[in-house]
Amino acid sequence: MKRIGLLGAGTVGSSLAQLITARPDLDLVITKALVKDISKKRAGLDKSQLTTNPQEVLDNSDILVEVMGGTGLAAELMLQSLQNGKAVVSANKAALAERWNEFLPFMQAGNLYFEAAVMVGTPAIDIASHSLRGSNPIELHAILNGTCNYILNQLENGVDYQTALDKAQELGYAEADPSLDVGGYDAAHKLNILARLLFDPNISWSSVSNNTSGISHLSPKIMANAIANNGRIRLIASVFPEDGAWKAAVRTVFLANEHPMASTASNRNALYFRGDACGEIIVTGAGAGGAATASGVLADIIQAMNNIAGPSPLAKAMIAPKQNIKLLEVV
Ligand code: NAP
Ligand code: HSE
Repeated sequence: MKRIGLLGAGTVGSSLAQLITARPDLDLVITKALVKDISKKRAGLDKSQLTTNPQEVLDNSDILVEVMGGTGLAAELMLQSLQNGKAVVSANKAALAERWNEFLPFMQAGNLYFEAAVMVGTPAIDIASHSLRGSNPIELHAILNGTCNYILNQLENGVDYQTALDKAQELGYAEADPSLDVGGYDAAHKLNILARLLFDPNISWSSVSNNTSGISHLSPKIMANAIANNGRIRLIASVFPEDGAWKAAVRTVFLANEHPMASTASNRNALYFRGDACGEIIVTGAGAGGAATASGVLADIIQAMNNIAGPSPLAKAMIAPKQNIKLLEVV
């Protein structure tokens, strides 16, 4: 029996607890779950499992699962556990992107797992740290934020911006601070991780965040106009060559209907990668929500239980093509 210590028992933590209960074959037990409010009821967990004392979680776990969020306490507790030689599974793209260098030695040791941090249970980290590495990259474009994609789809259906955001929060898609979603920063966190794994390990968080914008300027009218012009507007996170170096940016772009990501709707995500030998590859699937994220987290727990190393960081930058490529139209 492996003991799981849980940091956080909100949308993702509670879904994970229910998934683990439904999988007795895995021989997993959640010993303790860290929360702020111990009186709140949580599906999949009973009161005896909840605590407000982080040390209790750390002391009673073989594998630490962090689904609490934020770049402060959550990161400190993960680092403490990693320093003690424990495997850590996290869905926290903000902490990984903004504190990458502190986590790096533990990635190199294979003790940190983070499939659910990008595109939840849809494969992204696994392919970025493995199958896509056989080709020299040329470009990557991706829909990485489920909340924004959901809102944009709702705007296309004539729903106003605030109503769409409220619904995304109710469905458990949004971050605790939804300005991270609509401001483009959540997509930027995820892009920064993919960019470091596939293009250049030194692409810094500040370089990505300085080239990030969100969706709050969009309205049902602008979306209807794009549809009338045979396309869709989507928040796209991209890595591409610019003057012989890699550039990462997040912005809203116009996708013609023929584009493989134009039909990505609701809370779904999509990743388009073009490499010199593999050609074009597209992966699509759920991009937000408790169950789909818990699926990615559980996949990582299974890897850790089987002593399969977590994703390895890229050792050095891939060579950027000298010629610029034709870019999508920014809206
Ligand atoms: P959430 O519903 O807000 O849950 C956060 C949990 O952490 C809550 O149980 C909260 O306790 C606990 N917590 C937060 N700060 C704490 C503190 N200082 N001390 C003790 N407990 C604390 O968030 P979520 O949607 O599950 O997301 C969790 C993480 O997964 C985030 O990093 C998020 O980016 C990531 N993620 C989420 C999704 C998604 O679709 N929701 C998808 C992929 C990744 P209380 O319940 O008592 O408030
Ligand atoms: N808030 C995030 C999103 C959750 O909407 O994509 C999944 O990482």
